[in-house]
Amino acid sequence: MRAVDVIIKKRDRGEHTREELEYFILGYTRGEIPDYQVAAWAMAVLLNGMTPRETTDLTLVMAYSGHVLDLSDVVPRAVDKHSTGGVGDKTSLVVVPAVAAAGLPVGKMSGRGLGFSGGTLDKLESIPGYRTDLTVEEFKRQLREVGAVLTGQSVDLAPADGKLYALRDVTGTVPSIPLIASSIMSKKIAAGAQAIVFDVKVGVGAFMRTLDQARELATLMVDIARQTGRRAIALLADMNQPLGHAVGNALEVKEAIATLHNQGPRDFHEHCLTVGAYMLWLGGLVDSVDAGRARLADVIASGQAWAKFRAMVQAQGGDVRAIDEPERLPRARYIETVPAPRGGYIAGVHARRVGETAVLLGAGREKKGDPIDHAVGIEVHAKVGDAVQPGQPLFTVHANDPAKLAQAREALLAAITWSDTQVEPLPLFYGIIGE
Ligand code: URA
Repeated sequence: MRAVDVIIKKRDRGEHTREELEYFILGYTRGEIPDYQVAAWAMAVLLNGMTPRETTDLTLVMAYSGHVLDLSDVVPRAVDKHSTGGVGDKTSLVVVPAVAAAGLPVGKMSGRGLGFSGGTLDKLESIPGYRTDLTVEEFKRQLREVGAVLTGQSVDLAPADGKLYALRDVTGTVPSIPLIASSIMSKKIAAGAQAIVFDVKVGVGAFMRTLDQARELATLMVDIARQTGRRAIALLADMNQPLGHAVGNALEVKEAIATLHNQGPRDFHEHCLTVGAYMLWLGGLVDSVDAGRARLADVIASGQAWAKFRAMVQAQGGDVRAIDEPERLPRARYIETVPAPRGGYIAGVHARRVGETAVLLGAGREKKGDPIDHAVGIEVHAKVGDAVQPGQPLFTVHANDPAKLAQAREALLAAITWSDTQVEPLPLFYGIIGE
């Protein structure tokens, strides 16, 4: 087999065999096939697509290109969740301990933020001492003993995906639905997931801007899960406006803590109940999603979910004083509100612009490896549908640099669209795919 023939086949809209994908992708991972040939192939895939069968084969080839975790000796069914990324999305911080407190142990390997979308590891690292580099042995021990783990990838899971994703990032070939679906699913399979809830974000602050694109990606991921013997559902979740109020690392940890104390923003609390209920249901702990919601509402109201979060933070070396008294978390020097310049109804709070403003303040990174400032960020006080009086606070900006604070104020005002007539609030979800 020759690499050029694989490229030509995809250029001419052919369908790859499993053997071709193994030869090409594993050859690339071993360094035997150069970047330029794989870049040409990725562009051919972006333009010509892949069949669901090819996408499943690509997923499995990438999943088994490295270490594959087996959690069967630790949990009866390993249930995972995956968000495709958004602004203010701190769902894992609440859902992992809440689902664990409801009786289903959850070990999750999360990622860092890039561009306008945040990452769970960056948020957790706002807690002094919190370790995100557990070894596989530590991960399994904590999953067995505490029941909740939120860490980074310690071993090289799906190394083929790591290498291919980095190449796609610089060759304009990220936005291919089969490549995104296989990339996400290969990491889930390698991390040992037997059932997965996908939180597919759709809107101006998401990878998938339209409902059609989100539905296509969700359907493909659920289909791959099924083809590979896993259970999965995908929620199509709004990401036109930020989720909850807090955007920025320590601010989001504070909001997650408030939510675990049953005092979170209504939309975020509701979002967590839905994602978590589907996890409990896929995990076989409850007979219906409604029963899952009720169970989660109970463990949150009773303080058990908070206790599980606290135990997880302690097990991972985090300073529990900083979560018991969240005012000890990193705090910015300048904290100022942005008042409404007019009255009216909020018609839009542009999630991507808010996310980009958080990056401008230092909460996120423009490129991989950039340092971040855990203290800075934005509190969003107005949501779509709200009636606002002139002078009412729209945002609170947390900054460590006065010049950036001024820029952020301008950018945030530009993120709001107004209406003189009443506006319907945005839905949290647009639909569910699978099961
Ligand atoms: N996230 C991933 O993990 N992979 C992609 O290709 C896109 C988003």
